[in-house]
Amino acid sequence: MQVEIRQERPEERRAVETLVRDAFWNQYAPGCMEHYLLHILRSHNDFVPPLNLVAELEGEPVGQCACVKGKLWGDDGAVCTVLTLGPIAVRPDFQNRGIGKMLLARTAEIAKELGYPAIFLTGDPAYYVRYGYLPAEQFGIRNGENCYAAALQVLPLKEGALTPGRYEESGAYLVKEQAALDFDRQFPKKETRTGTPSQLRFLELAGRVRPAK
Ligand SMILES: CC(C)(COP(=O)(O)OP(=O)(O)OC[C@H]1O[C@@H](n2cnc3c(N)ncnc32)[C@H](O)[C@@H]1OP(=O)(O)O)[C@@H](O)C(=O)NCCC(=O)NCCS
Repeated sequence: MQVEIRQERPEERRAVETLVRDAFWNQYAPGCMEHYLLHILRSHNDFVPPLNLVAELEGEPVGQCACVKGKLWGDDGAVCTVLTLGPIAVRPDFQNRGIGKMLLARTAEIAKELGYPAIFLTGDPAYYVRYGYLPAEQFGIRNGENCYAAALQVLPLKEGALTPGRYEESGAYLVKEQAALDFDRQFPKKETRTGTPSQLRFLELAGRVRPAK
């Protein structure tokens, strides 16, 4: 399988949004908003274009991964710019063939070249642990609400760069639900479902949050 990981091209934006929609549909909620999220992220100041990657197979995008600048507010008063990874998606008919792994590896490589100290993400630790992501709690890092969250993970890219503090993701990730629903009407209709196993797992993970003392 000859997969090329490269930067997204403007002319394939809609095709990439479609694959994001297909991958996320009914995964974490009935329907999904991630295709709209990617659509608005691209024009946000915190978006990092060199890390807006596509996995291409036989001339078609089959996966994508995007990153946005976030902040780590250290308890010692130091503030540093970090990355937030997401969305990441692989077209359902190409999942489980290592494309997600390739996207994560290339993202880490480029992020390191660009000098970022760490990549944060919110996702299922069962998946990301195998690619070097660690629980943020291990570094004394809490989320924006000053809580330890099981889903918050980090990939350190520089020795000793991570100190205890609060990680804050960019406001770029705030999605207006009605705008997302309106945007979705531009795509073919799809059936929504509730109570899927991945939705239940998401709820369970989202509940594993504990305020810092
Ligand atoms: C998550 C995703 C990007 C992974 O891409 P992929 O190309 O299928 O991943 P890889 O081939 O590198 O890895 C597949 C392995 O990860 C496992 N895996 C995938 N998603 C997982 C999850 N949420 N939890 C635990 N394991 C997971 C698969 O079972 C498979 O395991 P195996 O190698 O033991 O068979 C893809 O499944 C996807 O697009 N999912 C829907 C969108 C999504 O959830 N994005 C992430 C949001 S945080």
